[in-house]
This record gives sequence, C-alpha cells and structure tokens, in this order.
Amino acid sequence: GLSSEELDRRIAAAKERLGRDLVILGHHYQRDDVIAFADHRGDSLKLARIAAELDARYIVFCGVHFMAETADILTADEQIVVLPDLNAGCSMADMAAIEDVEVCWDLLTEQFGDTIIPVTYVNSTAAIKAFVGQRGGLVCTSSNAEKVFAYAWAQKKRILFLPDEHLGRNTGAAFGLSLSEMAVYDPQEMALAYPHGEGDPRLILWKGHCSVHQRFEPHHVHEVRRRYPGIRVLVHPECRYETVQLADACGSTEFIIRTVKQAPPGTKWAIGTEHNLVNRLAQEHPEQFILSLNERICPCLTMNRIDRPHLLWALENLVAGTPHNVIRVEPEVARWARVAIDRMLALA
Ligand code: 13P
Ligand code: SF4
Repeated sequence: GLSSEELDRRIAAAKERLGRDLVILGHHYQRDDVIAFADHRGDSLKLARIAAELDARYIVFCGVHFMAETADILTADEQIVVLPDLNAGCSMADMAAIEDVEVCWDLLTEQFGDTIIPVTYVNSTAAIKAFVGQRGGLVCTSSNAEKVFAYAWAQKKRILFLPDEHLGRNTGAAFGLSLSEMAVYDPQEMALAYPHGEGDPRLILWKGHCSVHQRFEPHHVHEVRRRYPGIRVLVHPECRYETVQLADACGSTEFIIRTVKQAPPGTKWAIGTEHNLVNRLAQEHPEQFILSLNERICPCLTMNRIDRPHLLWALENLVAGTPHNVIRVEPEVARWARVAIDRMLALA
C-alpha cells in the first residue's frame, strides 16, 4: 500500500489535473482524511441542492449509494457521478425493496382507499423514490421532514412513510400525533400492526431503521446525565422515539453542527449520531466538552468504506479518461424519482 503522504499527494495531484471538470461532494459522516478533499460538505439535503446546481463533468460522491443516485437524478445526462466504492450502501435504504413496497401499497389502498400519500426518506433507492413520485408523493430528508409532512397531510388524510420507522414516528410526534394514530407495516409479516392500540391511523410507518442510530438508547441518556451534570443531549431523528423524547434537541447532521457551533464555551454535549461526525466536532471545539451518547463507538460501516485508496483510484480513473463505479439511474426511474425530489425541493 501507499504511505499516508503518498496517498494525500496523489489525490491532490489528480484533483489538480481534473481542475474544473471535477467536484468532490462529502457527507458529514465521512472519514476526516477523506472529507478533507471535499469541495462541498453537507447533510443529505444540502448535498442534493448543491448537486442540482453543479455543471462539472465529474462528480465524485463521498457518501453512500442513495446519495450518489440522487446526485445522478439531479444532474444532466452527460454529467458523470462516481461512487468510489460500490459497497458503500445504506442498510436502511436496503430495508425497503420495491417489490415489498408494492405489496404494502396494494394492502393499504384496499383497506383505506384513496386516502394515502407516500413519503420516502431520501435514504431509499431510486426505485422507491420513483414509486412515490408516480403516486403524488415526495421525498424528505431529516432537515425538512416536518415541512414535507405538513404538505403531505394537506393532500391526504394518511401518510405511508418509508423506510425509517424512527424518523417517521419522531416527526409524527412533533405534530402532536399520538402513538395510537401510528401503525407499523412489517414487510416480513406483510401486515399492519398497531403497537399502541388500534385506531384510525394518520401515519403508517415502514418497519426499517438505521443500525447506527438504533444503538442510542434511553439508558444512555440517563447514564450521561448522571455522570456529567448539566450535559445537553443532542440526537439525530433516526434515533428511536424513546431516546429522542429524553434528548434536549434533535435534528439533521447540519443542525447538530450548527447547534454546537452556536453554543458558548464550556457547554457539555452528548451527541447521538455517527462516530466520525461526533469525533470531528470534539476536535473542532476544544472549548466545549463533547462525547458520543454511546461511548462504544458507533460508526456507519458503509460510509467508512470510502477511504483514501478508493478515492485515489476513482480520481485516477477519471484522469485516465476511464471512469469506474459510475452511478447511472435508469431514465424512466430517474424521471419519476426526480418528480418526487423536485416536489421536496420546491417546498424550500
Ligand atoms: P443527514 O441528512 O442528517 O445528513 O443524515 C443522513 C444519514 O444518512 C443519517 O444517517
Ligand atoms: Fe444509512 Fe444509517 Fe449509515 Fe446513514 S448512518 S448511511 S442511515 S446506515
């Protein structure tokens, strides 16, 4: 393998050769030594907005597969989006397969008729976004879920929310919905469940989750508060409802960063989100006290697949004029997925 210095030097050289033809986008969960090379860093919403404005020939996406798909959907046909490692998927996005969503939709429309609008978290495959777009629905991110839910409920009585049960429940609760107004659809069982008593559901949650955020539990909140009096708990809305209820604040990665930046020196934080971001915030804010809400490291394994050797390989392929790992969404899928994404972006 190459030495650390050699990796940095060759990545910088390839970037330089590609000049204005190249833009590197980096999600906040990327490794420090990768995000250092990003021209723009952001949360899912910010990166999607930036991608939509880019005119570079090559976009190298340091993030996960659904983010690169979204960038491809939002850019022109001749622009090329590259994901440095094709194994960088998202386990949550993989929890909603299009065939299973079709089965669910048939069951729901049979039961509830034309009273449902589908909404999908951006953490989903392009096929799911297209499915949603074709049925009058739209995409949301963790930054704008409340805005999107308000829009969706103005159209129909019920929302089917894919694929993150927790973001869905947390957002529903922020609107004052009771848990008994939320049903859960389990794709394994192919049935609706009412864990808090059967009612007339306003929100139907797909049973999917993020394995990283699932690991922040209510007992962690109690423990850090006991050990560090005055500590503030800041979590991502992919955390379970019971954890979010106990937290001081909850929001997207961009929100978490902004909240820490605005806090006075000496503020203590326990943060419930991916390890790379928590670690970076701790390094960038030595004037505050920052630790992970779960001190057993919580990395997103797929985000971490993007490392410098993969980034270098991707860039040197572009320099050679032979792009590899190109993410290309089928035109018909891309067209409908774009409808669902544009509905979200129009809500700005
Ligand atoms: P953000 O939209 O907050 O960046 O979150 C993306 C993600 O994958 C969280 O797990
Ligand atoms: Fe997917 Fe969770 Fe990783 Fe985000 S942190 S990319 S939701 S697996």
